[in-house]
This record gives sequence, C-alpha cells and structure tokens, in this order.
Amino acid sequence: MGFAGKTVWIIGASDGIGAALARALVAQGARLILSARNRAALSALAETCGEARVLPLDLAAADALAEAAATIAPATLDAVICTAAIYDPGRVADLDPAAAAQLVTVNLLGSLEVARLAPPLLRDGGQLVLFGSVAGYFGLPGGQPYSATKAAVNNLAETLRIELAPRVDVRLVCPGFVATRLTARNRFAMPAIITPDQAAEAVIRGLQGRAFELHFPRRFTWAMKFLRALPYALSLRLTARLGVTSHDR
Ligand SMILES: NC(=O)c1ccc[n+]([C@@H]2O[C@H](COP(=O)([O-])OP(=O)(O)OC[C@H]3O[C@@H](n4cnc5c(N)ncnc54)[C@H](OP(=O)(O)O)[C@@H]3O)[C@@H](O)[C@H]2O)c1
Repeated sequence: MGFAGKTVWIIGASDGIGAALARALVAQGARLILSARNRAALSALAETCGEARVLPLDLAAADALAEAAATIAPATLDAVICTAAIYDPGRVADLDPAAAAQLVTVNLLGSLEVARLAPPLLRDGGQLVLFGSVAGYFGLPGGQPYSATKAAVNNLAETLRIELAPRVDVRLVCPGFVATRLTARNRFAMPAIITPDQAAEAVIRGLQGRAFELHFPRRFTWAMKFLRALPYALSLRLTARLGVTSHDR
C-alpha cells in the first residue's frame, strides 16, 4: 500500500529506525501516532510531522500499552509498527538477571502485547509490523539475551502471519546493522552498516510489496541466512572464530 492518507502507529518512534520511519512516512503523506518513553523527543519529532499525535508509553509498564490502545478507536489504523527494543548483549555468564528480565519484558513481552492489542485497531487488510533481527537467526557468542528475544520475535511473527490472516497483513522486519544508538555500543566493526534513513526506505519499500520478511541490506542478511542453513558442524565452527570474551562487548 502507499501511505498517503494512511494512519500509522509507530511504537519506538523517538529515536533510530522508528524516528526515521516517521519522517519518511510523513513525507509520503501519512498521519502518525508516535509512541516511546521519551515524551520530549516524541514532541520534537511530532513538530516536524504535520498532525502527528504523541502517545508516550513504556512497554515495560504493566497495562501501559493497553491504556494507550484504549485511546485509539477500533479499526481506524492502517499500520502498527513496533520498533521498540533495548540492547544489552554480552556473555551469558556475565548476565545481570534484573537487566535480562527488563530486556525480555520490553523486547519479547512488549511485542506479544502489541500483537495482542493492535489487531482490533487495524482496518481490514491493515499491517502489523514487528521488528525481529538477523541476530535472531543464529545464537552468536556474546549476543545474549538480546538475540534470544529477537529469535522469539521472528518466531512470533511467523505464527501471527497465519493466525491473523487474512484480516491483518503481518510483516517481519530483520535488519542487519543500522547506525543508531542501539549499535553505537558495539566495539566491533559492523559489516554493511546502513543509516536509519536507508533502513526506513527499505522498510517502506518492503511494506509496499508482498514479502512477509523484509531483510536488508541483502549483502549481509543473505550471509546470515546461509549461516543458519548450514549443518551445526559447520556453522558452529564458523561462529567459534568470533571468540567473544566478556571484555569484547
Ligand atoms: N540498529 C540495528 O542495527 C538493528 C539491527 C537489527 C534489528 N534492530 C531492531 O530494530 C528496532 C529499532 O532499533 P533502533 O536501532 O532504531 O534502536 P533505538 O535507536 O535504540 O530505538 C529504539 C526505540 O525503542 C524505544 N523504546 C525502548 N524501550 C522502550 C520501552 N520500554 N517502551 C517504549 N519504547 C521503548 C526507544 O525510545 P525511548 O527510549 O524513548 O523509550 C526508541 O524510540 C529494534 O527492534 C531493534 O532490535 C536494530
């Protein structure tokens, strides 16, 4: 679908790919509802986005999404896009259990809440767009628990694609590396990294097509798909070469 005149709720709009998506969708003539925790950042973005509505929420707060969703009339949205996630990767031995629980709450339980509450808000044929990651294709050393939550979101979207069809058009977005605050903490060279604006352009192009999974940039994501398709005897030999230690995060 083209986005002129469409109403889109972006959850995770205050920064990164979500903010870039907001700018790109407004340029196409979409009306936006902008959500995340940072009200000031959402308001500043809304000022550049025509008649955008700011609807702050914390996905980790009980009932926050339900209360926000209750302010939106049923069957009035053309798309709900959830980019919200947090990133705190490391070795499993170094995990802080409270931080891990927070990450699972936002990344996985937050996506489940979006999946539960968004469909009644969508018009027939509307799009529910979840952000997984190529990080969820294969468990790389030093990537937990983030990559486990992204594997779960990838899996969730596969289920929803069938459960919600044909009324809701469920899409899964699996970016490679995108230069945002999320990846700014990585201390390794990120192959094929792209800008948030490039990511937003790829998402919008993908949403106008028919593919279930939107993955980009292809030169990186196909390599990750190839890794996933290998027998473990080979793939684990390759990932062992990454040799992440607790100091390499
Ligand atoms: N960047 C990459 O290389 C990359 C690669 C693969 C997949 N992804 C996925 O792409 C999506 C967007 O990533 P990004 O790089 O754009 O990250 P980002 O720049 O950190 O933006 C994340 C957004 O999520 C919001 N958010 C975080 N915690 C939230 C909470 N508890 N409740 C509501 N909103 C919350 C943040 O806003 P507030 O802080 O204001 O709440 C922000 O708007 C994520 O799902 C990420 O996993 C990113």
